[in-house]
Amino acid sequence: MYQLKLIGYPIEHSLSPWIHEQFLARTKLAGTYQIHEIPLSDSFSEQMVKLKRENVHGFNVTVPYKQTIIPFLDELNEDAKRMGAVNTVVNDAGKWIGYNTDGSGYVRSLENAFPHLATERDTNRILLLGAGGAARGIYDALQHAGYLSIDLANRTLEAAKHLSHSKLPESKTSVKTLAEAEKSVATYDVIIQTSSVGMKPHVENTIISLKHLKKGTIVSDIVYQPIETKFLKIAKSHGALIHHGHMMLLFQAQHAFELWTGQKVTTEGMDIALKNILEGESFVNR
Ligand code: ATR
Repeated sequence: MYQLKLIGYPIEHSLSPWIHEQFLARTKLAGTYQIHEIPLSDSFSEQMVKLKRENVHGFNVTVPYKQTIIPFLDELNEDAKRMGAVNTVVNDAGKWIGYNTDGSGYVRSLENAFPHLATERDTNRILLLGAGGAARGIYDALQHAGYLSIDLANRTLEAAKHLSHSKLPESKTSVKTLAEAEKSVATYDVIIQTSSVGMKPHVENTIISLKHLKKGTIVSDIVYQPIETKFLKIAKSHGALIHHGHMMLLFQAQHAFELWTGQKVTTEGMDIALKNILEGESFVNR
């Protein structure tokens, strides 16, 4: 009987319980996935003592505790170490091991939607917009998956420069202003929007103009509220192939589930169900 949890705050509208209950049903594993909300006024360490006692098989960690959890872990895997952030904890015979499946989940979601990308990772030209925590995870995972040409553009140039310090020796990265990125959108095969621009309630905002976009470019936005951001709508009108933000949510969960159970699980059909849930109600957290 798998006992799985999510810690964070606020998480009452999280979609993770729905996703993991689907995975449990699909793999025919008995278990539960419950939210364990930790308000900021609570003692985090007391909550961790409680969770240790419960001896759960594993748990997800979300905002604002992805870094706070680290001192409570026995081990960190390499991805989590590089990120300095953990979203998945596996209980391995009493030892808590921290992972980060956000970036790997993003790459899985992208290659699931566009399988040809995986066969030409080293030649695809990618533009990453934004330089916050989400961009860091995606930049890292793309490079480690073998994508070697990734340019970074951000409103604050310094933040993009700082992120570029995590470039692997074999990869190529130029740092650009948003204005420079806007002018050069036609030179990229994949454009990934990782900032919060365009998220509800500011649904009319886009991080850059896409007026120079060429047909057939893959345009991805990690914002999933709304499901189809203005950025994606404009991209679609230029003949781009678009990739929605809720797919990252689904695939980071798939990777976490594999880490806890050792079982492969398909996400087939879940993207549409998830889209319907998101369109039906207002959810605020991962
Ligand atoms: P997360 O951890 O979710 O990625 P974050 O660390 O707060 O969030 O990063 C937010 C990103 O969105 C940053 O790249 C930020 O740009 P700055 O570094 O210049 O702050 C970007 N961002 C947020 N609001 C923006 C806006 N109105 N225009 C352009 N970029 C914006």
